[in-house]
Amino acid sequence: MPTSCTSHVLVTGGSGFIGSHTVLELINQGHKVVVVDNLSNSCEEPLRRIEKLTGLNESLPFHNVDLANIDDLRAVFKQYNFSSVIHFAALKAVGESVHVPLAYYRNNITGTLNLMDLMIEFGVKDIVFSSSATVYKSDPDGRPFREDSELGCTSPYGRTKLYMESIIRDVVGAESGWNAIMLRYFNPTGAHESGAMGEDPRQIPNNLMPYVSQVAIGKLDNVHVFGNDYNTRDGTGVRDYIHVMDLAEAHVIALERLTGNHGYEVFNLGSGAGQSVLEMIDAMSIACGHKIPYVIDPRRSGDIDTIVCDPKKANEVLGFKVSRDLTKMCTDLWRWQVANPEGYNQ
Ligand code: NAD
Ligand code: WQD
Repeated sequence: MPTSCTSHVLVTGGSGFIGSHTVLELINQGHKVVVVDNLSNSCEEPLRRIEKLTGLNESLPFHNVDLANIDDLRAVFKQYNFSSVIHFAALKAVGESVHVPLAYYRNNITGTLNLMDLMIEFGVKDIVFSSSATVYKSDPDGRPFREDSELGCTSPYGRTKLYMESIIRDVVGAESGWNAIMLRYFNPTGAHESGAMGEDPRQIPNNLMPYVSQVAIGKLDNVHVFGNDYNTRDGTGVRDYIHVMDLAEAHVIALERLTGNHGYEVFNLGSGAGQSVLEMIDAMSIACGHKIPYVIDPRRSGDIDTIVCDPKKANEVLGFKVSRDLTKMCTDLWRWQVANPEGYNQ
């Protein structure tokens, strides 16, 4: 028997960038949450900030557990009565995954296998999973990806996402009563509008927007624009950016759909519109009030011209549509950057 009778949502990776914003939104929408994270790419401070922002009068349940350790994870399942799981925990750096593929397979796949094993053992059959645009086979013509577009990855990280989706789909197919929603995010950015929560990269950022933001505040010298000879309107890469709070809201909508016995479902999460690297630098320059310096560098290996989604299925089936535009993404990101120049570990 669990120690707690109250029904909780288990959030793996809940102290990370997207997980923490989702936990905040879940609590604001009245859900009880338990966070499991091994802090390999985060710290506990976002949880303290969630407590303040939501006015929680108790500390947010948190367990520093690695999903690779099934016994530690089982102890958490024994303690609570979980209704559902949102599974964010994963290593996520594309470039790093090429150099240490086994670390990615071990962490992401083992963690998911252990989690699914315990969900079966404890009769928890509802899951929302963090997937990625990276699972789609790149389209040289830059057409928007639909959920039924061809799949195919070019990095070990991407393959772990595809395999994790497959593992979950096979479990749903093998056992009755499961509901699983794969959310394929495009390019998350922005921060909570309070300026108290945001993305906190531990090293020099790999992704464009945290890099631009660190140049804007003077921690880095120039943005390195990876190529201006792409087949796009200004020659730089076009991506589909989505505000992290729009993503957080989409998770709550997805979680609430799990009760509807829809089996296994996949949804893109993006705006459907694409912005170029130079457009993102311009938008951030407006947000911070000064010109952000950049240099044009050669293309980054593996990048392609355009990656945007077709958001129609999420619009029509989930009733989800992004509500925050590029200006909002940049002003919120800048507010977070200014208030937390060293991230959470001030
Ligand atoms: P993040 O690194 O900030 O969060 C992931 C969290 O998982 C971290 O707090 C980390 O400590 C934790 N974690 C990793 N391995 C773990 C393990 N074995 N046991 C317990 N905790 C573990 O990353 P994020 O940007 O918040 O991404 C969340 C999820 O969304 C990831 O699954 C990622 O692959 C996916 N995703 C991210 C993006 C993006 O651009 N940020 C895009 C598409 C998909
Ligand atoms: C965006 C654009 C770059 C950095 C990655 C993962 C994907 C998903 C989201 C997890 C591109 C250009 C970038 C820089 C630049 N993550 N760029 N200078 O590559 O679209 O997607 O994050 O699932 O799987 O691959 O995002 O932010 O790295 O790049 O010019 O310093 O910015 O070439 O056109 P990407 P990104």
